[in-house]
Amino acid sequence: MIEVQHITKRYGRVTAVDDVSFRVERGEILGFLGPNGAGKTTTMRILTGYMPPTEGRANVAGFDLFNQPIEAKQRTGYLPETPPLYPEMTVREYLDFVARIKGVPSRERKDRVNAVMERTRVADMTDRHCSKLSKGYRQRVGLAQALIHNPEVLILDEPTAGLDPKQIMETRDLIRGLGGDHTIVLSTHILPEVAQTCQRVIIINKGRVVAVDTPEALTARLKGAETMFVQLDAGGEDAAPALAAIPGVTRVGPADERTTHGAFEVESDRGTDVRREIARAVVTRGWGLLELRPMRMSLEEVFLQVTTEEIPEETRSEQHP
Ligand SMILES: Nc1ncnc2c1ncn2[C@@H]1O[C@H](COP(=O)(O)OP(=O)(O)OP(=O)(O)O)[C@@H](O)[C@H]1O
Ligand SMILES: [Mg+2]
Repeated sequence: MIEVQHITKRYGRVTAVDDVSFRVERGEILGFLGPNGAGKTTTMRILTGYMPPTEGRANVAGFDLFNQPIEAKQRTGYLPETPPLYPEMTVREYLDFVARIKGVPSRERKDRVNAVMERTRVADMTDRHCSKLSKGYRQRVGLAQALIHNPEVLILDEPTAGLDPKQIMETRDLIRGLGGDHTIVLSTHILPEVAQTCQRVIIINKGRVVAVDTPEALTARLKGAETMFVQLDAGGEDAAPALAAIPGVTRVGPADERTTHGAFEVESDRGTDVRREIARAVVTRGWGLLELRPMRMSLEEVFLQVTTEEIPEETRSEQHP
């Protein structure tokens, strides 16, 4: 549904987007994750035909963005970083206006405006001037205008920015509900957001794609090794060597959880389950096993790892699927 090939965007000497390629399948929700200045907005502006790339090609909904930009744009809804509202119009007037310029036939317009107002929960603000809307409502009206012509593709630049926690949950539900019928690319710096709403995530840093995968696989793959959290009620200084002697264990270190005593992180090769051996070793010595659980790397840690360090070869090779 969306195919981006080797897109580069330079602003003078600043390379905002550097040789980015990716695909989004029909009905998929793709999360674009990256720190400030990573190039998310720039990529989205290019995808919506708002500005051309310096190099590269893109195809949106079956149309080449550079040869058939009008056809591609007709099939795309865009929520920019700042929703493009007209302050002097009421919400209904504004949405009706957008429907008109997006070519919604006049007999369908009223129903369409009502339907998107319902869906984005702005119906209680119908007659409010756009200039008098709160930030959260402005964002929702922005989403409403992106949906107004029922586009196949939705490009949403930080759709939950500025919303309160309840609105964030509602907006995530709304976006999840739009997936399947629509192909969606959204950007965010909020990690739980990609895990909760997206099927696939692209991590972008300094204009480059550093990882592409499902949130789960990304977490698992970047972990490299299995780590167990082990807490004992005895053993003291003997505990670490005893744990390290277990076959399959590659490393034992103190757990850095501040309030726990006698706690260790026990690493083993990926795919090796050493829980039974740990339990046996502890019990044989007459120590008490207070806790034994796998430690999962959070998406936060994954994100920090891929945006601050050299990343593993296997991850890089996914750059151009
Ligand atoms: N119009 C412009 N002129 C010059 N440089 C720009 C322009 N727009 C963006 N940049 C630069 O391009 C880079 C990428 O910016 P972009 O807005 O795409 O990042 P972003 O990932 O959307 O960041 P944020 O999370 O802060 O929204 C940044 O270094 C930015 O300073
Ligand atoms: Mg941005």
